Amino acid sequence: MRLSRARGCMGCHGMLRKQVGPGFAQVAERYKDDASASVRLAIKIRAGSVGAWGRVIMPQQTQVTEAEARLLAEWVLAQHAEPKR
Ligand code: HEC
Repeated sequence: MRLSRARGCMGCHGMLRKQVGPGFAQVAERYKDDASASVRLAIKIRAGSVGAWGRVIMPQQTQVTEAEARLLAEWVLAQHAEPKR
């Protein structure tokens, strides 16, 4: 997705497997039964995260607007092992 590249997400994330951060298909798999995940992840995308996947910190992403974070969270959660780009 163009926005994920433009906002630098792909510098740390792959679609399938862990790089610096978890693969987006792995994130989608973890939260697939969690109806509140898109709201929570949208907040975490902007605020940053640590401890959900390991000890590496995801820094806050201040270049991302709230609306973009919602789009990115929904896109991440829609990923499958066969990624749709
Ligand atoms: C500097 C590297 C880096 C960048 C840039 C980055 N991430 Fe992350 N991301 C991480 C790491 C590391 C984690 C795991 C954090 C943890 O364990 O809590 C993570 C976790 C996540 C999670 C899962 C959070 C959870 O609670 O399960 C999502 C969703 C995510 N990133 C989306 C994004 C998006 C979207 C962008 C672009 C706006 C982005 N990331 C940019 C490193 C990065």
